[in-house]
Amino acid sequence: MISNSQTSHLDSIDSFLAMEIFSRAQQLEAQGREVIHLEFGEPDFSAPESAAESIRKSMEINDAGYTFSQGLEGLRNEIAKKYLRDYGVDILPEQVLVSNGSSLLLYLSVCLLAPPGSEVILTDPAYACYANAIRLAGAKPVFVKLHHEDGFQLNVSELKKQVTKKTKAILINSPMNPTGVVFSEEVMQSLAELDIPVISDEIYADLSFEDQPHSFLSYSPQTVAINGFSKSFAMTGWRLGYMITPEEWMPAADRLHQNLMISATEFVQEAGAAVLQKSTAYCEQMKAEFNRRRLFVLERMSELGMELGYTPTGAFYVLYKYRDSGKSSLDLCHEVLEKTGVAIAPGRDFGSAAEGYIRISYAQSMENIERALTKLAESKLLTS
Ligand SMILES: Cc1ncc(COP(=O)(O)O)c(C=O)c1O
Repeated sequence: MISNSQTSHLDSIDSFLAMEIFSRAQQLEAQGREVIHLEFGEPDFSAPESAAESIRKSMEINDAGYTFSQGLEGLRNEIAKKYLRDYGVDILPEQVLVSNGSSLLLYLSVCLLAPPGSEVILTDPAYACYANAIRLAGAKPVFVKLHHEDGFQLNVSELKKQVTKKTKAILINSPMNPTGVVFSEEVMQSLAELDIPVISDEIYADLSFEDQPHSFLSYSPQTVAINGFSKSFAMTGWRLGYMITPEEWMPAADRLHQNLMISATEFVQEAGAAVLQKSTAYCEQMKAEFNRRRLFVLERMSELGMELGYTPTGAFYVLYKYRDSGKSSLDLCHEVLEKTGVAIAPGRDFGSAAEGYIRISYAQSMENIERALTKLAESKLLTS
């Protein structure tokens, strides 16, 4: 007999609540309602032209095959150059492993550093997938709370209290999803001093608007840095990401990758190399536009009586604490969608510390952001 008890060992793996909002939004759109989407972190730009041009060339030759599991040498060279140019970090192409998106690499990095039964410390709130990736790897997520009154900066003294003999890694993300906060130099420095390996999700590293972009590798070599093309190059659907490890850890990482993925798609890797060679200016233009929107969101929310109470300086998100804390963030997001046609993400997606909050993504046109914020303010759903 087939029953869902067969898959009950995966019951603790949550789905994205933002997806639930998105599905409902799609139903409303199918009925002819207009919806403004602020629930996802997906840039509203096209991928750089150099990526499309590279794919066209690859398709003419039409010889895509498996590649070396760590990825094409040309792309790994470009990634090493980027880390030196943009973050001042000297790495070897041999330290780079490329995959189809960074998501798999989050899981792979936990498998690499944290054996089943060990502990990985991460923030609450944090990107929704982290805790699930840790659980899937058989390790235990241990949370350290980020406090609104600290501007959502990480308190390393509090983190230190969570360190046990079982701690094998700390997982951070700066600039951060869902707060948009960039961890300060002091935070990074004190994290490095703990002498515990850090998995540093650097997918938003290039979207740091007030500070020089940085990699955790400039603070400690005991780092697995994860980065990709989805956000700063507007290439979410291309599925291209990479990780950087110390050379000593790469053989194990490569074995895992061979077994899970064999290799990333060849022509997408070629496109990634072309983008790194030719499209850094395009990336800068997008960054400037995201910053323009960020400043607009901060000013407009404040004018509309929706003060954030902290200053996000990176990625393309703001986390907003709504007034009626009796309502669950998921229920509120549903109500907001039905009554205003604006789709936003429930804080609950990002951990229990973000319940009572909603996340707004400003990876949307200025016009849509302006209309959405006005609708949210007029509805008074978040402010009363
Ligand atoms: C913090 C963070 N890490 C990783 C990812 C996934 O990136 P990719 O498209 O490379 O799998 C996302 C996507 O939203 C993210 O917000």
